[in-house]
Amino acid sequence: MELNKAIENRHSVRKFSNKKPNWRTIIECIDSARYAPMAGNNYTLKFILVDNEEKIDKIAEATQQQFIAKAKYLVVVCSDCSRTKNAYGEKSEIWCRQQAGAAIQNFLLNIEEAGLSTCWIGHFVEEHVKRELKIPDNVNIEALLPIGYESEKPRTRHAKIDLDRILYFNSYGDKKMKRPVKIEG
Ligand SMILES: Cc1cc2nc3c(=O)[nH]c(=O)nc-3n(C[C@H](O)[C@H](O)[C@H](O)COP(=O)(O)O)c2cc1C
Repeated sequence: MELNKAIENRHSVRKFSNKKPNWRTIIECIDSARYAPMAGNNYTLKFILVDNEEKIDKIAEATQQQFIAKAKYLVVVCSDCSRTKNAYGEKSEIWCRQQAGAAIQNFLLNIEEAGLSTCWIGHFVEEHVKRELKIPDNVNIEALLPIGYESEKPRTRHAKIDLDRILYFNSYGDKKMKRPVKIEG
């Protein structure tokens, strides 16, 4: 699949069929997250692939989003920012979270290309998920990604914001690109 197609077709899926994905495919998608840019090339992320149904049920409870319990696999993305903190101080926490986003997007696009579906889950009780997966206190959970096959096509896709609402030229708020003045000689 072309990159642009994967970008445009990716969408959040909240209804999964009973078909179980091949876990090796999911691992290949996690592998693509290694290629994301990282401040100082310090890799801060860890991925937990969960297939234990009881654990998935408990995590679904911690999100209060029951569709997650239908997923056969759940990928939990974690960040350990301690090394970037030591190297870069104050700014590092932001960078650490930003690079998690970059890595997650690599993953999402590869999930799309593999014909699988997911939904980025950011709403959950962190403490409960940490307890279930034995994640240390100093590690952040960046996202929960339930993986499955889409059980039905969505009736409507989320409309995406128009380019002219997000693009400025040269200064914040300036919507016009000034053309260079042509001097007739
Ligand atoms: C940081 C973040 C947190 C999100 N948390 C949730 C969530 O807890 N539950 C959910 O159903 N969707 C969640 N989403 C998915 C968004 O609702 C979804 O991306 C948005 O509605 C746009 O739809 P699309 O992904 O189909 O383009 C989250 C997305 C992001 C980036």
